[in-house]
Amino acid sequence: MQAAGTRGEAARPGTKSSLTVIDNRTGKQYELPIEDNTVRALDFRQIKTGPDDFGLMTYDPAFMNTASCRSSVTFIDGDQGILRYRGYPIEQLAEQCSYLEAAYLLIHGDLPTAVQAAAWSGSIARHAPVPENVKKFLEGFHSDAHPMPMFISTIASLSTFYRSSRDLNDAQERDLTVYRLIGQAPTLAAYAYRHLNGLPYVAPDEEMGYTANFLNMMFKRGERHYAANPSLVRALDILFILQADHEQNCSTNTVRGVGSSRVDPYSAMAGAAAALYGPLHGGANEAVLRMLDEIGTIDRVPAFIADVKGGKRKLMGFGHRVYKNFDPRAAIIKKMADQVFEVTGRNPKLDIALELERIARGDDYFISRKLYPNVDFYSGLIYQALNFPPIFFPVLFAIGRMSGWLAQWLEMLQDPEQKIYRPRQIYTGSDKRIVPQVSQRQ
Ligand code: ACO
Repeated sequence: MQAAGTRGEAARPGTKSSLTVIDNRTGKQYELPIEDNTVRALDFRQIKTGPDDFGLMTYDPAFMNTASCRSSVTFIDGDQGILRYRGYPIEQLAEQCSYLEAAYLLIHGDLPTAVQAAAWSGSIARHAPVPENVKKFLEGFHSDAHPMPMFISTIASLSTFYRSSRDLNDAQERDLTVYRLIGQAPTLAAYAYRHLNGLPYVAPDEEMGYTANFLNMMFKRGERHYAANPSLVRALDILFILQADHEQNCSTNTVRGVGSSRVDPYSAMAGAAAALYGPLHGGANEAVLRMLDEIGTIDRVPAFIADVKGGKRKLMGFGHRVYKNFDPRAAIIKKMADQVFEVTGRNPKLDIALELERIARGDDYFISRKLYPNVDFYSGLIYQALNFPPIFFPVLFAIGRMSGWLAQWLEMLQDPEQKIYRPRQIYTGSDKRIVPQVSQRQ
């Protein structure tokens, strides 16, 4: 088995697949098995200086080198720029599949037949309407609210309506949860947008495709029939595919962590969406647009790059914990941008983005740190061309990522090795102290 994110070599013939560790404190030697290029952190616990010793732990802030699960959903090779869902290269999925097919693949493990695809999209469309009271709930938000916290809280609120979803052992309930969350994510997103813009809600239309229906709920005004340009519908559908899963990233780790307490799935997904909101994660595409606005013109790019190199700024949309060569999603989006701009007209910020990339790719600061454009560097430009305001970008990311979160959550529930997430710590605080009287406290 090839562990996602690792490319270990098999043991050479005649050698053992194990790690020999000598504890220099005691002189004792231990043999730790290596499986899938990994040693088990718990195997270190046997390494003790005496019977009262707790045993050795591994210290890995920010999980830089720790596998927290076994997963068959997504494979990434960050050095080679490879991303596959269930074994299929992201490039082929983006070229040949719809978002709902990719979502089915992530959840069920294989691509649907035509019959399965029709039943799947029908079930999702039927569950797209949100409970009526959610609209009242949305009315409570100020008109200048950020749509992402609105999305996060409305996702959490679904837990109050679908209480039987708490029975995680009921397969039928789990299926319903999947239909509802994939179906209602665009509805909640569009309703947040309409509320902020003082527009009446447009109910989901079962007859429309997933992404066309989303655009209809977002942008339909007085016209009898709203029909988004098919090239733009396809572009957004592809963006949803590209963002659908990315193995154990911050929000996916969150959905597994929150879900590991066996909380209901809506609360777990709200937790994941909250993690996605941060500017270092799914909020980066919004930050990229703000950065491009701030730079304003191409001639100001060198000064901005100098600020980045001087540690004053970050080049948003650049860098990735895993990709150290290129982000294959960014390459697909960059190509797609031309097709979108053919329909919408060229976004002038594209030239600034291209110039930033050109300078960064030739500059040792970025080369030596292996900083390349990530998925968010160009996605925001496309979102903007599709008429979405930057404040809305993280919500779009969350719609696409919902299927990945669900696939990972389902996998976690069925993994007999998984338990409630509970990392260890190295305590750095005071030794035992006596509580002083108030008059003696300083
Ligand atoms: N601009 C400038 N310098 C950067 C950037 C950047 N975007 N990213 C990393 N660096 C520098 C760091 O300052 C550090 O330099 P140093 O070695 O001199 O201290 C070095 O590169 C290593 O960076 P880390 O922060 O250690 O890398 P890490 O893996 O922890 O962070 C991250 C990855 C969060 C994505 C980071 O590159 C970043 O903040 N990028 C900008 C935000 C962004 O685009 N996020 C979206 C990621 S993709 C996604 O979530 C969908």
